[in-house]
Amino acid sequence: MLIRHASDLTENDVTPKSAFVNRRQIIQAAGGIALAGAVPGVFAESQSVPSWLNQTVDQTVFRSVTTDEGITDRADATSYNNFYEFGTGKGDPARHSGDFNPYPWEITVDGECTKPGTFDLAPLISGASASEERIYRLRCVEAWSMVIPWIGVELGKLLQQFEPTSDARYVAFETIERPDEMRGQRSRFSFIDYPYVEGLRMDEAMHPLAFMAIGMYGEPLPNQNGAPIRLLLPWKYGFKSIKSVSRISFVREMPPTTWNLSAANEYGFYANVNPEVDHPRWSQASERRIGANGDVDRIETRMFNGYDEVAPLYAGMDLRKFF
Ligand code: MTE
Repeated sequence: MLIRHASDLTENDVTPKSAFVNRRQIIQAAGGIALAGAVPGVFAESQSVPSWLNQTVDQTVFRSVTTDEGITDRADATSYNNFYEFGTGKGDPARHSGDFNPYPWEITVDGECTKPGTFDLAPLISGASASEERIYRLRCVEAWSMVIPWIGVELGKLLQQFEPTSDARYVAFETIERPDEMRGQRSRFSFIDYPYVEGLRMDEAMHPLAFMAIGMYGEPLPNQNGAPIRLLLPWKYGFKSIKSVSRISFVREMPPTTWNLSAANEYGFYANVNPEVDHPRWSQASERRIGANGDVDRIETRMFNGYDEVAPLYAGMDLRKFF
């Protein structure tokens, strides 16, 4: 899928936010209410969203929501989630993230860079670039997928503010630890260790497709989707797209990653979407697309989730070995 920056858009590509939101409300009125009723709190608007965040989201240039693939209903994208900090069931994040308060939010940046520190989120976002909307496919390693309109900034533009040095070969990310607000983190039965950690090679992180989202569907991110800021790497399995990021570290060595630590033979560091490399317990050749209007179709999975422009990052690598 082609991504375009705000500056490349013509008048015809742009949907005023009011029209976008109205369309969403119509869709919700038509089909989303039943689902919202099933999962209390899905549409609960946070009372404490700071004004800078609402303004940033409002100032985003909204693209037309027309695309060759139907956009997943917001009701589905916000009620069928993976966020183990709030439980392992798909409905748990929406059901149990109401006590999580992501505002105000700071990110600690350390390691191989000339401008480390602990920063408020607002200046980090405004310092990166104007926010933009991107419609990305999200392909989970569990073989389901969605198409979601996100709002945010390029990861590379955010990272450049810290001036990583030439010793920074990888970048590591960490999710916040708040066991009092995140029931999964205090569960004795959790089978992953917290904090949730992820990582990228520097050149992957600087690729223009790598994105940090602060919103979706024209609004700030709901808690269950990783408020207030989460990573999106549309060519990789969804588990690389770490939520509620509170630490970024520039490092020399390949950093540990949560699912690799949990089962190294099943989840690699790279985790590029690849229909030819099956998960040891299931095929990755196809996926269940949770699409527009709640329609669910079985479709073929594409290499790099269809984002061929990332292929040069892996030239010469054996992607069966580095899965
Ligand atoms: N980030 C954290 N901190 N904890 C998680 O459990 N789950 C990952 C990823 N990021 C996860 C996470 C997985 S497996 C997927 S598929 C995506 O988030 C799901 O994102 P979504 O719920 O917004 O669709």
